[in-house]
Amino acid sequence: MVEILSRPEYEKEVANTRDDRMAWWRDARFGMFIHFGAHTLLGRNEWVMAIENWDIGEYEDVARQFKPEPGCTREWAKLAAEAGMKYMVLTTRHHEGFSLWDSQVNPYNVVAHSGGFDIVKEFVESCHEFGLRVGFYFSLMDWHHPDSWRCAFDPEARARFQDFLTGMLKELLGGAYGKIDILWYDVSRPMESHEGWGSLQMNQMVRDLQPDIIINNRSKLDEDFSTPEERLTAAEGKDWEACMTFNRISWGYLDSAQAAPYSYNSHGILRMLHTVCESGGNLLLNIGPRPDGGVPPESIEPLQTVGRWLEVYGDAAVYGRLTPGQVSRASGTGRFTQRGNKLYFWQFIHSDQLIFGGFETKLKSIRLLPDRTPLDFTQTQRQIVVEPPSPDQYDSIVNITVFELEFEEMPVHHRCSAYPQLHLGEELLK
Ligand code: GLC
Repeated sequence: MVEILSRPEYEKEVANTRDDRMAWWRDARFGMFIHFGAHTLLGRNEWVMAIENWDIGEYEDVARQFKPEPGCTREWAKLAAEAGMKYMVLTTRHHEGFSLWDSQVNPYNVVAHSGGFDIVKEFVESCHEFGLRVGFYFSLMDWHHPDSWRCAFDPEARARFQDFLTGMLKELLGGAYGKIDILWYDVSRPMESHEGWGSLQMNQMVRDLQPDIIINNRSKLDEDFSTPEERLTAAEGKDWEACMTFNRISWGYLDSAQAAPYSYNSHGILRMLHTVCESGGNLLLNIGPRPDGGVPPESIEPLQTVGRWLEVYGDAAVYGRLTPGQVSRASGTGRFTQRGNKLYFWQFIHSDQLIFGGFETKLKSIRLLPDRTPLDFTQTQRQIVVEPPSPDQYDSIVNITVFELEFEEMPVHHRCSAYPQLHLGEELLK
């Protein structure tokens, strides 16, 4: 039995180990989210059971048909690795309450109920095969278990439901699936507080089972990182990961006719990745596999293309420790990521004029990636004007060329040197 620490003691202990536990995650930047479950068969959003008010028995009949092809998780992991992603997070149980592993605690699972295979087990093996870190999404809300909603007003139901959750967490994290890197809780209804969920006890148990694990903020405790959803907004002073659907509509499977027109292309994915890197976050990009487990076709080519681009530019401009958000707009054709004295300029719009404004620090060199070919430039008080490369030197993968600007010291940038009232504000006021 773990000795239960008070909240301040617990949070202090978790904070003390955070830098070590999260080192890999902070360098990783890019991961794959997988929403998979009985909802996949209906193909109308993972909330379908609640939205369409399905009867539990009828939904159980749907779940009984859930028989993806063995080997499908390998396909996801292979694509994630090809895309330059470093970790994966699978919905081991979504709100429908159906478990994707061979659970003794929850008979409503893919093996006992549907006669299928242990998807979680295969998923973990596939992640290992492709060198990816392993994350488990785990819904606290449950539309299937009879005690779930009763929790809110019935203490006995709540005790039983907590035992049920704890039992499942022990199965997932107690060693049967080896080392698990991320626990990704979701939706804490109906208990809207950490006390209601017993999250302090629950998460201390989790950390006892998996000392290096990283936990998200959705069990009503802040834990290790926050999770902006469908938006790329930095969390102040905290680690954060933006989770995004691929098609802007649904996490769970939608057929391609519905999803393809709204799906991101490779350029769009790289824009998202840039936004999180610029502000020091990670991107967890979702796919909702088909009922047989196959990857939705509209995700394949864009992700592979992103992977080819990251292969060339990722080490310089994406992976590893970046300096968040010092320089924002210094050119009309792209944006930056930063690593100390070096800025990486991602040119999103092709232009053969390359001009940067507002830098006060002396530029040492500007080089074209990936070969680091030096380019001539002149720097005046207002502008850095660069001799553009020849057209065949621009990026041919997605047309996002990256330039490395190395400054003599940490670059100081004035956002709007063209607006003297901002630059000279103090003098104007006098
Ligand atoms: C939401 C939804 C859910 C999805 C999740 C991903 O909270 O309830 O369907 O799994 O976000 O972030």
